[in-house]
Amino acid sequence: MARNAPIGADQTGMTPTPASPVIHALSAAEREGVYRAIYGRRDIRAQFLPDPVPDELLARILQAAHHAGSVGFMQPWNFLIVRDRSVRAAVREAYVRERDRAAEFYEEPRRSLFLALKLEGILEAPLNLCVTCDPERGGPHVLGRSAVRETDLFSTCCAIQNLWLAARAEGIGVGWVSIIQPAEVKRILNIPERIIPVAYLCLGFVSEFPDQPDLARAGWRARLPLCDLVFADRWGQPPSADLSGALGSVQQEARW
Ligand SMILES: Cc1cc2nc3c(=O)[nH]c(=O)nc-3n(C[C@H](O)[C@H](O)[C@H](O)COP(=O)(O)O)c2cc1C
Repeated sequence: MARNAPIGADQTGMTPTPASPVIHALSAAEREGVYRAIYGRRDIRAQFLPDPVPDELLARILQAAHHAGSVGFMQPWNFLIVRDRSVRAAVREAYVRERDRAAEFYEEPRRSLFLALKLEGILEAPLNLCVTCDPERGGPHVLGRSAVRETDLFSTCCAIQNLWLAARAEGIGVGWVSIIQPAEVKRILNIPERIIPVAYLCLGFVSEFPDQPDLARAGWRARLPLCDLVFADRWGQPPSADLSGALGSVQQEARW
C-alpha cells in the first residue's frame, strides 16, 4: 500500500479527503505494524535464545534509537555494546548484590516473590548494551534545557524506547536491568566520570514474546485502567463522557 494512502473513515472517524487533516496518516497496514510493535513489545528476561544478533540488524535498531527526539537536538546518547562474557559476568555479580539489597525493602511474603522473579538475562542474552547520557554534549547552554536539567536524560530514554520498539519489529527481545548500582556499571565498563549510564539492556532473539508483562503474570502488579489516568483541564478532573468511552474501547482493543 502506498505511503500516506488515505485511510478509512471507520478507523479515524474522519473523512480522508485530500484536504483532510488525516492525509499524512500512515496506511492501515503501516499503522497496524506500529501498534503491533507497541503492544507486542515486552521486557524480556527468560526467553532469550543464544543465536547471535547480526550486525546489520543491530545497526538498524541503533539507527532507530539515534533518530529519537532530543532536547536542543543534543543527541546525548552513546551505545556501549557488551559481548565479552567476563564483562557480562561482572555486571551480573553487581546485579545480584543490588538485588539482594533491594530484597530487604520488602516484607514477607513479597520478599520471597521478589527473589523468585527473573529480573535479568545478562548472561543468557548474546548481547548487552549500555545506553549512556553525556550531559555536556552540546555545551553548557543546551536549547530547551534551561528549566529542566533532566531533559538530557529524558532524551536518552526516548532513544531507548525507539530501540525497544525497533527491536520488537525485528523480532529481538530487550530487557532493561536497572537493579545495578550505576557506579558499579561505570567501574566495570570504564565509563568516564561525567557520563551517566541510563540503561543496561539485554538483547537477543527470543523463544516467544509473552502477551502480558512478566510482573502482571507473576501477580506482582496489574496494568492500571487508562481512563483513571487521564484528566481534563485540571488535575483530578475526569475527561468528557465521550473520551472516557473511547478510552474504555481502546483498552479492549490493545490485544497484543
Ligand atoms: C526504567 C526501567 C527500568 C526497568 N528495570 C527492570 C529491571 O531491573 N529488571 C526487570 O526485570 N525489568 C525491568 N524493567 C522492565 C519492567 O519491569 C517492565 O517494563 C514492566 O513490568 C512492564 O512489562 P513490559 O515491558 O513487558 O510491558 C524496567 C523497565 C523500565 C522502563
